[in-house]
Amino acid sequence: MTDLPARMTAIGISTPGGPEVLRPEERPVPTPGPGEILVKVAAAGVNRPDVVQRKGFYPPPPGASDIPGLEICGTVVARGPEATRFALGDRVMALVSGGGYAQYCVAHESHALAVPANLSDAEAAAVPETLFTVWHNVFERGGLKAGETLLVHGGSSGIGTMAIQLAKAFGAKVIVTAGSDDKCAACVTLGADTAVNYRTADFVAATKAATGGTGVEVILDMVGGDYIDRNYEAAAVDGRIVQIAFQGSSKATVDFRRIMLKRLHHTGSTLRSRSVADKAAIVAAAGAAVLPLLAAGRVRPVMDTSVPLADAAAAHARMESSAHIGKIVLLV
Ligand SMILES: NC(=O)c1ccc[n+]([C@@H]2O[C@H](COP(=O)([O-])OP(=O)(O)OC[C@H]3O[C@@H](n4cnc5c(N)ncnc54)[C@H](OP(=O)(O)O)[C@@H]3O)[C@@H](O)[C@H]2O)c1
Repeated sequence: MTDLPARMTAIGISTPGGPEVLRPEERPVPTPGPGEILVKVAAAGVNRPDVVQRKGFYPPPPGASDIPGLEICGTVVARGPEATRFALGDRVMALVSGGGYAQYCVAHESHALAVPANLSDAEAAAVPETLFTVWHNVFERGGLKAGETLLVHGGSSGIGTMAIQLAKAFGAKVIVTAGSDDKCAACVTLGADTAVNYRTADFVAATKAATGGTGVEVILDMVGGDYIDRNYEAAAVDGRIVQIAFQGSSKATVDFRRIMLKRLHHTGSTLRSRSVADKAAIVAAAGAAVLPLLAAGRVRPVMDTSVPLADAAAAHARMESSAHIGKIVLLV
């Protein structure tokens, strides 16, 4: 244990509401429990679920910090009992179930990875939530294989930009939807084979055209609503549709006959509420497969903006404007 302060600055949610409810507060520095490390945070990623939490619709799971922030990069400054994986001073990037918007944050050691030397603090903080979400949903649940085609809704999002890169790195074709021509162009630059501006074109027709009429094997959907029925149309026989959010609606009228006729699988998951062991398994598998690609520069988080921790409200306002392409990060 190095000399640590008792108190720290963190960003609290003063009351559910707009970005302005995010305010710097003084909090006790957390103490790592069994198997946990205390990280002096250098940078924290901003994710759409943080925005939903700030609005009061995504409470932290039992036992998690009420401070927002699901991913961090920083230096290990203390270890709890039985935490042996990292040494003091190691640079790590970690998935956390809350508490990232702070000077210090506790992470389970099995949810952390060593940071490749070529990544900046901001880049490393942008990796965990997107990498583990994409790895689990596209590859483990969706079973994407080389030669198949992945359709990613929200291709220019933090999640989408990681999904494009990973799918291409593992030999798949990628079709994305995004809400502007600029966003579509950014996705193509990143490696997407086809980008559909969903405001001006029908993604089902575009998907069929891009796949010779057969449809796509895997769909990563964060929209829901009327996309659900249209995803069933856009999917290939034996297609897998993986739901990670409902930015449109979680309710829909759907013609389910396609599930039988095309033998579709529709699944989904949410990372934050998973058990320590489940997350550890995802982190280990994603780390083994993707850390070499990150270290070689073949996969690199797409960075939109980095702002100081005290400007968390501005970071949320930018995310809600949907003007961003890639990741928004807080520098601590
Ligand atoms: N299940 C999980 O474990 C998990 C974990 C992390 C994140 N998520 C979810 O994944 C999503 C992305 O997260 P993020 O942090 O990467 O957020 P983000 O960067 O803010 O991405 C949200 C994206 O949704 C796009 N979008 C909204 N409506 C759309 C539509 N009708 N069609 C296509 N795209 C649409 C927006 O792009 P346009 O401007 O182009 O519309 C934007 O790029 C969020 O919904 C988040 O809640 C789920």
